[in-house]
Amino acid sequence: METHPQALRFCALICITFSSLLHLVQTQDQKEFISLDCGLPPNESPYNFVKLGLTFTTDEGYVKTGKTGKVQKEFEQTTPKPILNLRYFPEGKRNCYTLNVTQGTDYLIRALFLYGNYDGLNKYPSFDLYLGPNLWETIDLSLWGTEGVYDEIIHKAISKSLQICLVKTGTSYPLINVLELRPLQNNNTYNTQRGSLRRFRRNYFTTAIGNVRYPNDVSDRIWIPNFDEKNWKEVTTDLNVNTSNGYNLPQVVMASASTPKSDFAAWNFTWFLSPSTTQFYIYMHFAEIRTLQANETREFSVSVNGNHINESYSPKTLSTETLSYSTPQQCEDGKCIVELLRTSKATLPPLMNALEIYTVIDFPLLETNQDDVLAIKSIQNTYGLSRISWQGDPCVPKEFLWDGLNCENSDSSEPPIVTYLNLSSSNLTGIIASGIQNLTHLKELDLSNNNLTGGVPEFLAGMKSLLIINLSGNNLNGSVPQALLQKKGLKLIRDGNPDLICADESCANKSGGSKKKTIVVAVIVSVVVAVVLGSTVALFFVFRKKRTSNSAEVVTMTNNFGRVLGKGGFGMVYHGIVNGSQQVAVKMLSHSSSQGYKEFKAEVELLLRVHHKNLVGLVGYCDEGANLALIYEYMAKGDLREHMSGKRGGTILNWETRLKIVVESAQGLEYLHNGCKPPMIHRDVKTANILLNEHFQAKLADFGLSRSFPVEGETHVSTAVVGTPGYLDPEYYQTNWLNEKSDVYSFGIVLLEIITNQHVINQNREKPYIVEWVGLMLTKGDIQNIMDPKLFGDYDSNSVWRAVELAMSCLNPSSARRPTMSQVVTKLNECLAYENSRGGTSQNMN
Ligand SMILES: *[C@@H]1O[C@H](CO)[C@@H](O)[C@H](O)[C@H]1NC(C)=O
Ligand SMILES: *[C@@H]1O[C@H](CO)[C@@H](O)[C@H](O)[C@H]1NC(C)=O
Ligand SMILES: *[C@@H]1O[C@H](CO)[C@@H](O)[C@H](O)[C@H]1NC(C)=O
Ligand SMILES: *[C@@H]1O[C@H](CO)[C@@H](O)[C@H](O)[C@H]1NC(C)=O
Ligand SMILES: *[C@@H]1O[C@H](CO)[C@@H](O)[C@H](O)[C@H]1NC(C)=O
Ligand SMILES: *[C@@H]1O[C@H](CO)[C@@H](O)[C@H](O)[C@H]1NC(C)=O
Ligand SMILES: *[C@@H]1O[C@H](CO)[C@@H](O)[C@H](O)[C@H]1NC(C)=O
Ligand SMILES: *[C@@H]1O[C@H](CO)[C@@H](O)[C@H](O)[C@H]1NC(C)=O
Ligand SMILES: *[C@@H]1O[C@H](CO)[C@@H](O)[C@H](O)[C@H]1NC(C)=O
Ligand SMILES: *[C@@H]1O[C@H](CO)[C@@H](O)[C@H](O)[C@H]1NC(C)=O
Ligand SMILES: *[C@@H]1O[C@H](CO)[C@@H](O)[C@H](O)[C@H]1NC(C)=O
Ligand SMILES: *[C@@H]1O[C@H](CO)[C@@H](O)[C@H](O)[C@H]1NC(C)=O
Repeated sequence: METHPQALRFCALICITFSSLLHLVQTQDQKEFISLDCGLPPNESPYNFVKLGLTFTTDEGYVKTGKTGKVQKEFEQTTPKPILNLRYFPEGKRNCYTLNVTQGTDYLIRALFLYGNYDGLNKYPSFDLYLGPNLWETIDLSLWGTEGVYDEIIHKAISKSLQICLVKTGTSYPLINVLELRPLQNNNTYNTQRGSLRRFRRNYFTTAIGNVRYPNDVSDRIWIPNFDEKNWKEVTTDLNVNTSNGYNLPQVVMASASTPKSDFAAWNFTWFLSPSTTQFYIYMHFAEIRTLQANETREFSVSVNGNHINESYSPKTLSTETLSYSTPQQCEDGKCIVELLRTSKATLPPLMNALEIYTVIDFPLLETNQDDVLAIKSIQNTYGLSRISWQGDPCVPKEFLWDGLNCENSDSSEPPIVTYLNLSSSNLTGIIASGIQNLTHLKELDLSNNNLTGGVPEFLAGMKSLLIINLSGNNLNGSVPQALLQKKGLKLIRDGNPDLICADESCANKSGGSKKKTIVVAVIVSVVVAVVLGSTVALFFVFRKKRTSNSAEVVTMTNNFGRVLGKGGFGMVYHGIVNGSQQVAVKMLSHSSSQGYKEFKAEVELLLRVHHKNLVGLVGYCDEGANLALIYEYMAKGDLREHMSGKRGGTILNWETRLKIVVESAQGLEYLHNGCKPPMIHRDVKTANILLNEHFQAKLADFGLSRSFPVEGETHVSTAVVGTPGYLDPEYYQTNWLNEKSDVYSFGIVLLEIITNQHVINQNREKPYIVEWVGLMLTKGDIQNIMDPKLFGDYDSNSVWRAVELAMSCLNPSSARRPTMSQVVTKLNECLAYENSRGGTSQNMN
């Protein structure tokens, strides 16, 4: 049975050379050939292999891995020099040669393998040969023994580089002796509808012995003589045959032909293909090399498996013509036959000079996007990364995916793209490689725990797909570009870079050591209180005054700033009266606010449109030029913090009331997340921002400065860290990655407060931080001590337990594991239902 690989003895390194013809073909030089004597010591490279007139070079520079060896001495007599050296690959699963090629050009690629007992173990290896991401052939050298084997394909280069990889499949080490790459003279001869061509047969019909290849064959195809002595006789010529039909066959190949011994017999040629579904292409080369008399005619039908290519074909006199099919063929039961049958007009039997048969080899997996490949290689070079897996195609096949990389290939008709690069803890030094910006599909970039220096490059902000950048634990300096800080949808981690300065204060403090204590709660404006009798808030009017430094309206409204309700981050909050009797809270903002003024006003306009019964409404504002007065509804009963602490006096809030308050607050928050267009993140949920009106209806305050975030596509925004210590989502704090789950975390703290009535941070506790303290108590099973003693056990334990559970789930360190506010509302309503069904002795809080 035939197999595709061909024993080396046919390989024609021992070739015939018709010296008289040499000058005719010398026009084609070998400068575009790649002829690698694998394992050749660089100091012996290059050398001219006289028998072939080919120059062989070492494979160093084409492959970064592997060790060199030499076949045993006993082979030296019989084996051509280029085959004596070899390279073997004890390390890594896949090792690859990278060859520069011209995109769009057809190449003949040939690899030769001879074990030659180089390691003295007398154990033939078996391994896989890959072309780029696709399997080309399994090489089992035990089948070829001391002869060795070569395999060959014709392949159109689809990019500027070609990878030939050897893949370990068992315990034995892959090896290779010779690798040859020849561009074909013509791109349009060996065409396929799909796939590449794997050499099955390449014969010329002669009784001569000896193979023909370079320099006779300008493309260095190897032609093996074939002759059916029993049925054929030979025709030869000394005349020159025109071979310029695109296939550029060697003169010597076309100068002989076979015809049936018996003048009226058919000329046939058979072969078998396994499996029988194998598709193939056949190229039949004809030239009339006999000088025909006037009364002589050679004409015959040409068919493959009974399928006619030409029913009355006459070869051209001393000129090559090639017959082939444009579509791939298949043989019944794998049994194939070419038949040449003389026509009735013919006076001479049929004839054929040479023939090639190739099977179709599918290379279905597309190579990784070439821009991504170039980019990753430039990064590899920049950092001198010599990872064993970083060879061959970065993404495909999946089993050989490069370490630290991930790719996407949702549509198999599109090349895979690199979406994830993790070079964490890779000893990187120098600056952040500019090659990274060419990985345009990157979603996650982890450069943490290296020794990178220099600045954070601006180009990172321009990388559209990037969602996460982890730069923590390096020596970066300078300031983080504004564009990067402001980029929506980007999670930037940059802690552990002591010299990194950020435009916002929070980052500067973050980059130092003790984070939690130094955090600056910057931009928070605490609206403490606000007005409007009754819960119906009438939107009134918007005052506008250009460049009036002293606003009559505000002075009048606040009775010359007579009653202070509280103090926020930006300025004071005053009690005011509008329309003669309506109470309001007036918050004065000065221009020194760190937020852009225009942006701020746009937000204010937006807030005027947000209405929900559990949100403290903004009812108007005065634009004073230098100052901005925000006018809110007035909340008569102050904030939840005061009530919990007892500062406010009066009765302690009972469990049911506490639950009612948190249900309402949760609804307000849920509305910000899901009901607003665009959605809002509160960013400063805490008991001090839960205000109560005179009916103890709860409303969330101070969401005014939450920044809008987009709904579609992006799921989070990166902003300067703001918030209140203790309430701050650790993930948000660490990553600067803001999403609605950060509010959920803060809300979990609020829940713990109403359950425990403990301070969020209390240095005198076993664990200062409330979350850790509750966690500790829970692991100890110490439940009684968690509960606020002032409740005197007056609660439904089911209700309380569910609330504790819910709080802890809101406080999950991983934002993804936290519930949404809608789920929180549902769960809290269940708690409330348990408490209500108890029908206990409810105290009246008033
Ligand atoms: C391949 O081409 C690149 C430039 O595109 C060049 O830097 C490299 O040296 C070439 N490799 C070889 C082996 O010629
Ligand atoms: C083959 O085609 C490619 C691009 O289509 C071209 O660059 C190259 O020169 C061609 N080679 C030959 C030998 O015609
Ligand atoms: C050889 O044949 C080709 C066509 O097959 C023709 O174009 C060319 O002119 C011929 N050359 C000579 C020297 O006759
Ligand atoms: C091939 O042709 C010869 C005669 O030239 C004939 O004896 C033989 O049977 C043919 N083989 C097939 C498979 O047809
Ligand atoms: C062709 O002509 C030659 C003489 O020129 C003759 O000897 C030969 O028999 C003829 N062949 C045929 C097939 O007629
Ligand atoms: C068959 O070959 C002859 C030349 O020998 C050519 O003139 C003719 O067009 C071919 N027929 C077909 C169907 O290709
Ligand atoms: C990067 O790889 C390290 C392990 O090498 C892992 O701990 C880290 O989570 C990875 N980073 C990302 C963003 O997946
Ligand atoms: C980093 O360098 C250290 C010491 O030179 C070495 O032990 C370690 O293996 C290296 N790590 C990587 C991922 O190259
Ligand atoms: C990025 O790609 C562009 C064009 O594709 C190229 O000119 C540039 O050299 C590449 N940059 C790096 C650093 O590889
Ligand atoms: C960033 O990298 C550091 C160091 O490898 C790691 O501890 C941290 O978890 C990473 N952050 C994220 C969000 O992946
Ligand atoms: C990081 O690089 C700096 C300067 O190149 C060097 O002084 C320092 O020792 C390096 N640190 C580590 C941990 O390799
Ligand atoms: C950052 O560090 C590099 C040396 O690693 C230095 O050349 C550069 O001036 C520094 N830049 C700033 C802004 O400090």
